[in-house]
Amino acid sequence: MKLSLILCLVIFPCLLFSEEVTFFFSKPDYLTPAMVVIQNKCFTCHSGPWKNYKTSQQWVDSGLVKPSDFRGSQIIYSLRNFGGDMPMNPKFIVSNSELRILKRWINSIN
Ligand code: HEC
Repeated sequence: MKLSLILCLVIFPCLLFSEEVTFFFSKPDYLTPAMVVIQNKCFTCHSGPWKNYKTSQQWVDSGLVKPSDFRGSQIIYSLRNFGGDMPMNPKFIVSNSELRILKRWINSIN
């Protein structure tokens, strides 16, 4: 009886700090769908370092993404949709629904 109580008291705080549990408390991950867009529309030419960015922070560190600043992010203002020349091949032009996915992601970074 007592042993199980002690076990509960020890295991519960450990669980709270484990990655699996903090996952449930963290914000939804908007990077994953954004990466699908970038993969479909940009990787043909920008496979290089872009493929290796696994976190939003790595995108921010690259200088291509500004936290919570959609229009101010180079990855956005370089787009044909906003007067830039990316993607270089118009075949890969970014659709409005894809833009919304990118916007949701960038706005979620702080
Ligand atoms: C058909 C090939 C092609 C595709 C597809 C493409 N790019 Fe590019 N991109 C280039 C080339 C070549 C350059 C370098 C020359 C230049 O800056 O004009 C470049 C440069 C850039 C730059 C300047 C900074 C840097 O890293 O060199 C940005 C930002 C950029 N692209 C964003 C994008 C985004 C976002 C997409 C996807 C929506 C995309 N590109 C898709 C060919 C492409």
